Amino acid sequence: NGKYTVTLIPGDGIGPEISQSVKDIYSAAKVPIEWEEVDVTPIFKNGKTAIPDYAIASVKKNTVALKGPLATPIGKGHVSLNLTLRRTFNLFANVRPCVSIKGFKTPYDDVNTVLIRENTEGEYSGIEHEIVDGVVQSIKLITHEASERVARYAFFYARSTGRKRVTAVHKANIMKMSDGMFLSACRQVSKDFPEIQYDEDLLDRVCLHITQNPAPYADRVMVMPNLYGDILSDMCAGLIGGLGLTPSGNIGRDASIFEAVHGSAPDIAGKGLANPTALLLSSLMMLRHMNLNEYADKIEKAALGTIAEGKTITGDLGGKSSTKEYTAAIVDKILKA
Ligand code: IPM
Ligand code: MN
Repeated sequence: NGKYTVTLIPGDGIGPEISQSVKDIYSAAKVPIEWEEVDVTPIFKNGKTAIPDYAIASVKKNTVALKGPLATPIGKGHVSLNLTLRRTFNLFANVRPCVSIKGFKTPYDDVNTVLIRENTEGEYSGIEHEIVDGVVQSIKLITHEASERVARYAFFYARSTGRKRVTAVHKANIMKMSDGMFLSACRQVSKDFPEIQYDEDLLDRVCLHITQNPAPYADRVMVMPNLYGDILSDMCAGLIGGLGLTPSGNIGRDASIFEAVHGSAPDIAGKGLANPTALLLSSLMMLRHMNLNEYADKIEKAALGTIAEGKTITGDLGGKSSTKEYTAAIVDKILKA
C-alpha cells in the first residue's frame, strides 16, 4: 500500500501521551507510515532486565523505530533499557542537534550545533570491578574501530547537511591513550573529507566558550566519546530551553532508533500536560533519515509556528495548554497549509 512500517515504542510515564500526539499529527499530515506499536515492559532474563523478544523482532524487521522514554527500575540487575536497545542494535552514532527555537525565550537565540556522540563504548561499556574493599575500577573502553566509525558518520553527516566544520571534542591532555586514539581516528577520517574543515577542542573549553557565546559553534558538527556527548548534549539542550525541545537519533547500520532524550516524567504522567515536542522533532529526524523530507518540513513548520506564536503551548514552555490543545493547534496549521 505504499506505506512504510515503523516500530513505535510509546514507553513509560508520559510516553503514551506524547506518542499519541505524534500519531495525531502524522495522520493530519498524511505521512505514509504505518505504526507497529510495541509495549516494552521489561522482562527478567539471566538476572537482568531485558527487552522482550517481540520488540527486538519488530525493530529488526522494520529497521526504523520511534521511541518514547523508558524508565529504569532502581536496583541491582536493572540495566537501562535505553542502553540495552542501543547495544542490541549496535547503534553507533547518537545524533543530537541543538538549534534555538524561535519564540521560546532563552538567553541565547543563535544556537545551531549538532553533537554526535559515540554510542557503544567509552564509560558506557559497563565494565566495572571492585578490586579490593574500598577500591573500584570503571573501565573506559575506546577502540579505533568504533572511533573511526562514528568519526566517519560525523563527516558524512556534516557533508550531507551542509555543515562546514567538524570539531572533535576530547580530553586527550589527560586521557592520553583513550582520547588520543579517538582523535587519531578522527584525524585519519578527516583526510577523506577535504571540503570539511577539521579541528579539535577540549571538552571543558567548549563548555566554557559555548555558554559564553554559542555563535562560533553554529554551522558545525561536534563529535566525541560517549560520556562527553551525554553531558555536553544536556548542557547544549539547556542553552535552547531544555530537554523538552531537543531531538535525537541513534544510528546503526542495520537499524536506527529515534528518541526523545528526556525521562518518563512520572510526576505529570497521565495528566495531559506533557510537551510532545522533543519526540515530535525526533520523529522528524526519522522522516529525513527515511527521505520523507517534505513531510518533515511540513510538520516542522506547523510545530515551530505554533511555538513561535506562543498562544497554545504547554506549561514547560510558559503556556497553559494541554498536550491535546497544543497538538490540535499543530494539526490545525497542517490542515490549513
Ligand atoms: C541519554 C540518557 C541515557 C544516557 C540514560 C537514560 C541511560 O541520559 O540518552 O542521554 O545516559 O545515555
Ligand atoms: Mn543523557
